Amino acid sequence: MSNKPKILVARAIFPEALAKLQESFEVRSNQTDQIFTPAELQKELSSVVGALVAGSERIDASALSGAQGLKVVANISVGYNNFDVPAMSAAGVMATNTPDVLTDTTADFGFALLMATARRITESEHWIRAGKWDQWSIVNNPLGMDLHHSTIGIIGMGRIGQGIAKRALGFGMKVIYHNRSRLAEVDEKACSATYVSKEDLLRNADHVVLVLPYTTENHHTIGAKEIALMKSTATLVNIARGGIVDDFALAQALKTRKIFAAGLDVFEGEPTVNPELLKLSNVVLAPHIASATEKTRRAMVDLAIKNLHAALDGKKPPSLINAELFKV
Ligand code: DGY
Repeated sequence: MSNKPKILVARAIFPEALAKLQESFEVRSNQTDQIFTPAELQKELSSVVGALVAGSERIDASALSGAQGLKVVANISVGYNNFDVPAMSAAGVMATNTPDVLTDTTADFGFALLMATARRITESEHWIRAGKWDQWSIVNNPLGMDLHHSTIGIIGMGRIGQGIAKRALGFGMKVIYHNRSRLAEVDEKACSATYVSKEDLLRNADHVVLVLPYTTENHHTIGAKEIALMKSTATLVNIARGGIVDDFALAQALKTRKIFAAGLDVFEGEPTVNPELLKLSNVVLAPHIASATEKTRRAMVDLAIKNLHAALDGKKPPSLINAELFKV
């Protein structure tokens, strides 16, 4: 029997990262990537001192109920709405995430999804695959909406939101934003961004991009009422989290052309996608891949491992969420 501390790696990770972990820990890995049920997760957590998880693992009081020896759960993700942080703090479990390493990759993707949505790129590809190119005409092609010199409205102006704003400047776009709190003047200047109310943003933006973290307060930040404020020519892009948009209301709005199009990387109840959305051609769908480049996913795994090591070595993890748990 090994006398190394035992950890859980709840999702498949890169084999080199796993091998490195095995040098220091007895690792219960899940390279088959079969997602644990809540009961299985609770059992797995009951025998380990640390765990590496992703958004698919909900870490709450119930998951932690048998986890007497658990000291840290490291999320391989910057968003941590799968964590009940107060419950983790109450159980003395450090919570960590992976900020910064994915900012540019995620901002790139947000912009790519916006371009694909506004310029109907996936729909155009479907045209070709369906043998419709012979229907090409000046007025009857998939005609899109311009990005250049239009107004982008960003809701959630953290690191990724600011990254998208900087990319928009390269397209000559006017940047307006709404955020829980207004940015410092220096940060606003760096993005040439103007702070507006959510309602003004929805009324004035040609393209609305959502990059805010999910909390119970911002559940359905965009629903039928908000969509009704948007221009009929506007696009909506969600790279934040499922639940921030009321997907049913969005599907109805897209069906009735209340707005022009949407690009979605995240969904309510994912991996299930609202069947109404699947029927529509004016929505671009992606399976939660905003951070998915090889380099960035490796960097996220590496940072999660650093967090785990630090916590188990009695040091402050580089991206500790419940900082009150680290007492010097
Ligand atoms: C994150 O890190 O929160 C992303 O959504 C994962 O791709």
